[in-house]
Amino acid sequence: MTALLSVNEVSTGYAELEIVHKISIQVDKGEIVTIIGPNGAGKSTLLKAIAGVLTKFEGTVTLNQQNVTTLSASNMVTVGASFVPQTDNIFPSLSIKENLEMGGFLRSSGVSERINEVLSMFPELQKRPNEKAGNLSGGQRQALAISRALMLDPVLLMLDEPTAALSPVLREEIFDRIDVIRKTGVAILMVEQNAKEALLRSDRGYVLVAGELVLEQTGPELVANPDVGRLFLGAERNPQIHNEGN
Ligand SMILES: Nc1ncnc2c1ncn2[C@@H]1O[C@H](COP(=O)(O)OP(=O)(O)O)[C@@H](O)[C@H]1O
Ligand SMILES: [Mg+2]
Repeated sequence: MTALLSVNEVSTGYAELEIVHKISIQVDKGEIVTIIGPNGAGKSTLLKAIAGVLTKFEGTVTLNQQNVTTLSASNMVTVGASFVPQTDNIFPSLSIKENLEMGGFLRSSGVSERINEVLSMFPELQKRPNEKAGNLSGGQRQALAISRALMLDPVLLMLDEPTAALSPVLREEIFDRIDVIRKTGVAILMVEQNAKEALLRSDRGYVLVAGELVLEQTGPELVANPDVGRLFLGAERNPQIHNEGN
């Protein structure tokens, strides 16, 4: 089977500085794939390059077998790949509904129908569409950012740390919504620091260290992997993680 998203030996970085080196990853249709790794490993840099925010120094990216290597971020959304950056992902001065309208501005039709569909997955937003986004809680803002990214019916949703700075309960809520979105046929590629929670809900995961891919396994395999536990899952603080999967 050909992957929905295929990243082939991509290197990227900032100006002359190469941060990630010859990375190859795949995401199949309807999969949840998570990239974990220490701070500064280049996870956000890689995601930004795939999303067309950063240019690739070398390598290729295909989506549905179409070469999208050189597409800009605004053109990536038109071919079905939406990206939610970690910060500045909503317009705080606009209402929930206006944010969604902005997200759907490239649609030729059906904006209000799509707003209704998207909001049906996020009841806490649906209840008050005219609320200013700047008044929302952290979890609700993240829900709105994800909703906005869904407005153009993406086949691939890329999320940079969707649960950063959220409480455990709110993290669970966001992960539950990500599951619901996947069930609608959308593939998810996310970067997460809350690695264990994310990996337990992921089909597969990749470990990125200092700009290099060091491991690819299923989500549960990575959680059970003692090396990963020690390095990234807070095993020192939570020794029971070592015993999981035994
Ligand atoms: N805008 C930028 N300009 C130059 N270097 C950057 C920029 N953003 C990030 N970096 C550097 O790239 C490296 C990887 O950063 P990042 O991709 O944000 O890591 P991660 O998301 O894995 O924590 C870090 O060394 C960081 O300092
Ligand atoms: Mg990051």
